[in-house]
Amino acid sequence: MSPSSPSPSPSDATASKPRPVLRYALLALAVVVAGVAVFVSRDMRHMRNVRSLMDVLDDPLEALQLTSLKYDALIPKDMRQNLEDMLTKTSKWSETLDFQVGWELARQGAKPEHPVVLIPGIVSTGLESWTTSEEESAYFRRRLWGSTSMLRSALFDKEKWVKHLMLDPETGLDPEGIRVRAAQGLDAASYFAAGYWVWSKIIENLAAVGYDTNRIHLAGYDWRLSMYNLEERDHFFTRIMSQVETNSKIYKKKTVLISHSMGGTVAFYFLKWMEHHHGAAWIDKHIEALVSISGTLLGVPKAMPALMTGEMRDTVQVPAMLANLLERFFSSRERAQLFRSWAGSASMLVKGGEVVWGNENGAPDDMDNATVTHGVMMEYEPQPDSNSTRRLSAAGVHDWLRLNAPKTFEHMLQTNYSYGFERSASQIRKNNADHTKWSNPLEAALPNAPHMKLYCLYGYNQPTERSYWMHELPPEDEKLHLNPDHPLLTQSLNNGSNPKSLSLSRIDASVTRGDEFPAVQQGVRLGEGDGTVSLLSLGAMCVEGWKHKRYNPANIQVITHEVFHDPSAFDLRGGGSSGDHIDILGSHELNEAVVRVAVGLGHTVEERILSPIRTYAQRIAW
Ligand SMILES: *[C@@H]1O[C@H](CO)[C@@H](O)[C@H](O)[C@H]1NC(C)=O
Ligand SMILES: *[C@@H]1O[C@H](CO)[C@@H](O)[C@H](O)[C@H]1NC(C)=O
Ligand SMILES: *[C@@H]1O[C@H](CO)[C@@H](O)[C@H](O)[C@H]1NC(C)=O
Ligand SMILES: *[C@@H]1O[C@H](CO)[C@@H](O)[C@H](O)[C@H]1NC(C)=O
Repeated sequence: MSPSSPSPSPSDATASKPRPVLRYALLALAVVVAGVAVFVSRDMRHMRNVRSLMDVLDDPLEALQLTSLKYDALIPKDMRQNLEDMLTKTSKWSETLDFQVGWELARQGAKPEHPVVLIPGIVSTGLESWTTSEEESAYFRRRLWGSTSMLRSALFDKEKWVKHLMLDPETGLDPEGIRVRAAQGLDAASYFAAGYWVWSKIIENLAAVGYDTNRIHLAGYDWRLSMYNLEERDHFFTRIMSQVETNSKIYKKKTVLISHSMGGTVAFYFLKWMEHHHGAAWIDKHIEALVSISGTLLGVPKAMPALMTGEMRDTVQVPAMLANLLERFFSSRERAQLFRSWAGSASMLVKGGEVVWGNENGAPDDMDNATVTHGVMMEYEPQPDSNSTRRLSAAGVHDWLRLNAPKTFEHMLQTNYSYGFERSASQIRKNNADHTKWSNPLEAALPNAPHMKLYCLYGYNQPTERSYWMHELPPEDEKLHLNPDHPLLTQSLNNGSNPKSLSLSRIDASVTRGDEFPAVQQGVRLGEGDGTVSLLSLGAMCVEGWKHKRYNPANIQVITHEVFHDPSAFDLRGGGSSGDHIDILGSHELNEAVVRVAVGLGHTVEERILSPIRTYAQRIAW
């Protein structure tokens, strides 16, 4: 990387900036969602206002402005001020194209070298309806996910929206009569919704050195499906293979795979799938490098409560009033059901059990001065009428899911994924033939492709949810929210799950403990990471795991480059110096590294570790 990039002093690493601006924006969107829901359900006379609101929703920035004006009472004054500041600046940033990094490299002589295939993360590929039945045809080829029209559908036609997006819990595919498919082309994941860029900054910088649609392929996919069904239904991995072979044929160059977030897991699965079906020599011949950005290599702690209770930090750390509105509109029970039907999301449950994520006696990523351990991933308030202490480690949460979630979910986990920790080299070799292991780098090795390179690029210095305080709602309380006629509930009752356990566990947002370190804030303990993915998952394989022969038999070179999260306060997305999980895709440092690999200057991307990841990784009992 350029030697001029500022190297922050270690003391900066702990000074976190007060910049939850993105959260405000999401909050504002949530306010729109919840606010409108209340309007609709309470009083049909408001329908006319709602109509005009619907029109406005086609422009999210306008919708945000409208929110800040219209729902004054819901938003604290200082937050409102922030929102307004931010909105003026954001609209500028979202309009700005960003070629800077590309131009600079082009001036130094960079030219397209390797064709690239972009593999997006979960939720970033748009999904559209291909249902043609009479009553659903109004949705045909409309985006149900990844656009502002999604917000409209979710709000005004919630039942239908859920019906389209929820998968059949048995087959993991579309329910009878419904077809939803991933959008295709660069636009499938350049922007999530108008103004909220995902891949577009990287595409712009690649374009600035000469890339165009011939050399950039965005491999959009239906992230709701299990990896297995991605190939089974959509032939997703076969298509990547063909694209890569076409690239080789036309350009006589190897391809660079660039993945973001869960795309890292998908790319790893692709390599294992290729190796199994076509041999590792294919990979060595056709793949130059895998660039994994913000990779969810060992899973994400926030996926645990999400699949357990439908909650995560984003849904509990909001003003109580908003939380109540949200709960009424789309309850945690319904969310959990929806998330569980998305077999793809289960690829993000944490991997490696207690070895990686710890237990009551400690976790590898506990800070030296910690008074409590992250190893207890979920802690429960003791119940007066039972003397079972409930302190669940990562493995305990996995057990909870298997025992309490519907049987269909347990079956899906059993037949599609594996979350263990394997030390035996011979067993790891055997796992090459077992697709359930291909999304877990602790049970399946990197392919035997010695010329391939692996780049781990991720942000650091952003507090990230890591463990939780839970409570069990007393049954009476539960009845208040329970709608026995709800189809989602009926379905799971039919499928043999215990109705009480379905959402009796909830994150206890009333627990805040400043005297502990790390402190509990509204039921959530924060650790280190990029704001979404824990440092252990981002980096432990890169700096340590793949140094072990059993996980990397061909000794593939792994370069880890951390990006220090130092966002600009005047930019909703943190500007060119953000290391945030998603906003890093607009970081100049990251863009430079990515473009360098693409143009054949990968050897100039330096190893750079700013976080304590090496120490943490060494504490894992490999
Ligand atoms: C899980 O994998 C099996 C193959 O082992 C497949 O038949 C099934 O559809 C998958 N289940 C889900 C829910 O994706
Ligand atoms: C523990 O150490 C971290 C970083 O070294 C520091 O930010 C934090 O304030 C310390 N906490 C306590 C309670 O001493
Ligand atoms: C508490 O634990 C003891 C021994 O482990 C057991 O005998 C007793 O029944 C338990 N009490 C309750 C209320 O579960
Ligand atoms: C589970 O739910 C599905 C969908 O409602 C239903 O078709 C199936 O019969 C149920 N399975 C059992 C075992 O009840």
